[in-house]
Amino acid sequence: MQSTLRKSADPLAAKADLLVVCVPDPPTPLSGPAAAADAALGGMIARAAKDGEVDGKPRSSAVFHAGDAVGARRVAVVGVGAGTLEDWRAAGEAAAGAAGAAKARSAALAPPPEAGADEVRALVEGVGVGAYRFDRFKSADGDGRALARVAVHSAAVRTADLRRADRVVAAVNGARDLVNTPANHLTPTLLGERAKELADATPGLSCTVLGRARLEKLGAGALLGVAKGSDEPPRMIVMRYRPPEPARPGEVLGLVGKAVTFDTGGISIKPSSGMEEMKMDMGGGAAVLEGVALVASLGLPVEVLAVIPATENMPSGRAVKPGDVLTAMNGRTIEVINTDAEGRLILADALAYAAREGATRLVDMATLTGAIVVALGEVYAGLFGSDEDWTALVHEAAEASGDLAWPMPLHERYRPLIESKVADLANAAAKRQAGAVYAAQFLREFTDGLPWCHVDIAGTGMVGGKGTGFGVRLILEVAERLAAPVPA
Ligand code: BES
Ligand code: MN
Ligand code: ZN
Repeated sequence: MQSTLRKSADPLAAKADLLVVCVPDPPTPLSGPAAAADAALGGMIARAAKDGEVDGKPRSSAVFHAGDAVGARRVAVVGVGAGTLEDWRAAGEAAAGAAGAAKARSAALAPPPEAGADEVRALVEGVGVGAYRFDRFKSADGDGRALARVAVHSAAVRTADLRRADRVVAAVNGARDLVNTPANHLTPTLLGERAKELADATPGLSCTVLGRARLEKLGAGALLGVAKGSDEPPRMIVMRYRPPEPARPGEVLGLVGKAVTFDTGGISIKPSSGMEEMKMDMGGGAAVLEGVALVASLGLPVEVLAVIPATENMPSGRAVKPGDVLTAMNGRTIEVINTDAEGRLILADALAYAAREGATRLVDMATLTGAIVVALGEVYAGLFGSDEDWTALVHEAAEASGDLAWPMPLHERYRPLIESKVADLANAAAKRQAGAVYAAQFLREFTDGLPWCHVDIAGTGMVGGKGTGFGVRLILEVAERLAAPVPA
């Protein structure tokens, strides 16, 4: 989708399949473009508001046929509720939904004059994210009917704001494409190739993909252990973005994303019902891959090191077995109690690698535990952190981005959960309690004392059997906060 700016043109005259106007909750008295559209439609919107069909609630939309009254064939009235940025994003998604139902290929957005640049940007992002389709494997129809062009009638934004919104949309939807792609079409090897393509297309971004031989030299025994059961070779995807003039010289944002391109559970195999969803067990990796590319494409003055451990988790005659002991890159030994707790194993090596390669602060994202889905559902990700200030920054970034994350505890007294009788650590606890905390407590052992946050996106990264792109905007917000010079 591409958005273009129309600064002074009258939105009512815009030639588009759909004109979108916005109303708050409560919607009346109508004002701005909504009032103008109402007047052109002979008071139809005001009547619908009176009857409660237009209520201004976020995510609501009502569509009116316009006849010859305005330039567009139809008018959609979307609710922006109380006007938070999340409301504006939701309004954009509702507008895209209305466009989809009307099979519109073009839309004109007419936010009210009081909407500022942030609100309009959120609206445009919402439209782009809401217009997303995954139809690569549908032989009929294709994307012929998708919303392709959006004209934005607003004096509050500049063209650069829209370019930025388009880039955010492309990154979020790019991550969703990766997550939705079936595992036979997105192996660790293909994910590595995709990362290289993206790096080649993005100035300042480079990519190195480590294969089995390099991983053996590095002693990445945890990632290699998980990969043993698969015929697909593992990859450690390493992406670096070095801006010409970093705002905080010496700071390196380390991003780590779990990319299990298919998680069968391994020898501790999962039940078959619903297992197809485990093609999405690489949502953290997808967010990191697209997130670092987005930060680079926007030219933010923040140095980033992104590390994405990628593998399948398969049962086979060569697969890692319960009771096996693996040695991670930092020398810690791990007893594999449950081969389905594979995410923390591959992240162990990736976190240790990021720390060794110069990251000064870390954020990892992973579809790590079913327990976080039980605790927080699909609304909030779980946020764990080792450093108060860093965790507060990531938490604020999450709230601002709309990729919500709620603080969860870590504590020394959880440590017995990760103890093993035979090795330094065990990858699964004997007790079935605090599953998400346990996983986080395990990861902490590989962060080399750096300020670190772990975002468990098992619930938010996949919703209704589809990838959400969760994490991309969170990464952008975190990077933007680091792009501000150190507060005095
Ligand atoms: N990929 C799963 C976690 C998951 C579950 C993601 C549901 C998305 C939706 C992870 O590898 C896993 O299997 N975790 C186990 C850990 C347990 C064996 C300690 C879990 O949460 O059950
Ligand atoms: Mn698993
Ligand atoms: Zn997994």
